[in-house]
Amino acid sequence: MPAVNGTSGNSAKLSTSAVRSPVKLVPVPVKDVGVNAALKAQSDPSFEVKPHIFEEFALTGQVAIVTGGNGGLGLEFAIVLAEQGAKVYAIDLPATPSSDFVAAVNYVKRLGSSLQYRSSNVSKQEMVNATICEIAAENDGKIHVCVAAAGILGIEAECTDYPANMFEKVMDVNCNGVFFTAQAAAKQMKQQDIAGSIILIASMSGSVTNREMNWSPYNASKSAVIQIARSMACELGQAGIRVNSLSPGHIRTKMTAAVLDIQPEMEEFWASLNPLGRIGAVHELRGVIAWLASDASTFCTGSDILVTGGHTIW
Ligand SMILES: NC(=O)c1ccc[n+]([C@@H]2O[C@H](COP(=O)([O-])OP(=O)(O)OC[C@H]3O[C@@H](n4cnc5c(N)ncnc54)[C@H](O)[C@@H]3O)[C@@H](O)[C@H]2O)c1
Repeated sequence: MPAVNGTSGNSAKLSTSAVRSPVKLVPVPVKDVGVNAALKAQSDPSFEVKPHIFEEFALTGQVAIVTGGNGGLGLEFAIVLAEQGAKVYAIDLPATPSSDFVAAVNYVKRLGSSLQYRSSNVSKQEMVNATICEIAAENDGKIHVCVAAAGILGIEAECTDYPANMFEKVMDVNCNGVFFTAQAAAKQMKQQDIAGSIILIASMSGSVTNREMNWSPYNASKSAVIQIARSMACELGQAGIRVNSLSPGHIRTKMTAAVLDIQPEMEEFWASLNPLGRIGAVHELRGVIAWLASDASTFCTGSDILVTGGHTIW
């Protein structure tokens, strides 16, 4: 326990000598947007009046990586970041990318951006670190955005019977893999003094348990992701690096198709568990990724953003 001034209780102040990393205070940013822009425009007729909100979402000239980017949510995220102007690298397991990925590369090229594929395994610390170092080296050491979306669901089995090797595999990808990815990206950002954005894909299953689904390792791994984001946000805040988690609800991808293709009635059941009465579509996470990755969210760190159709409010 660190020493405190005074006796005890929440009101006691930490003695700065006991704090290993006292928080360095940073000036509040001032920007000529919104009301500030309106006031400037009123007093200075030469002030250019134009919308700024889309500029705030721009990632022009930035480098972004997305793990699990060969398909599903990860590929959608990769396209969003490319639409924002970033040069995007997707990292995933297969040696060669999927046909969806190839279509995305051509689409992104026509948009004037770039999307590339790198094969790597996020649960191998040295391997994913080497992949991220190589991407940084190709870009003068720069990585601005990291989305850690690689994940697996594991099998469905009762907690009393859940096999150890499968529990470990889920943790290896969802928990270790997310940590190793974020760690490698953060290292590059720190070295280059880049106030980057790291987004860890958790799940509503990190905050609530999916009714009727026996996925205890998956749920545990996603709680860990939320806590990794908070912990890294605390350590990296002074470097200006933001770390948040994004927790989607039910969305049809290859991952959920593993359940829905075998038990189609589950879609209706899952839909009935949120007030919107439907599951989500992959594209419905575009806005939140664009927001978290960009300067539109500069005061957001250590947050878990739930996008679930309201699943968790019941
Ligand atoms: N689909 C949903 O309803 C939903 C809901 C909440 C959270 N999520 C999370 O979103 C993320 C993306 O899931 P998705 O639904 O797109 O699933 P998906 O199965 O379509 O995509 C996951 C991707 O991760 C890759 N991957 C798996 N292990 C890897 C490893 N060791 N190294 C590198 N890549 C690896 C897979 O090859 C795949 O391309 C996951 O973290 C998942 O837990 C999904």
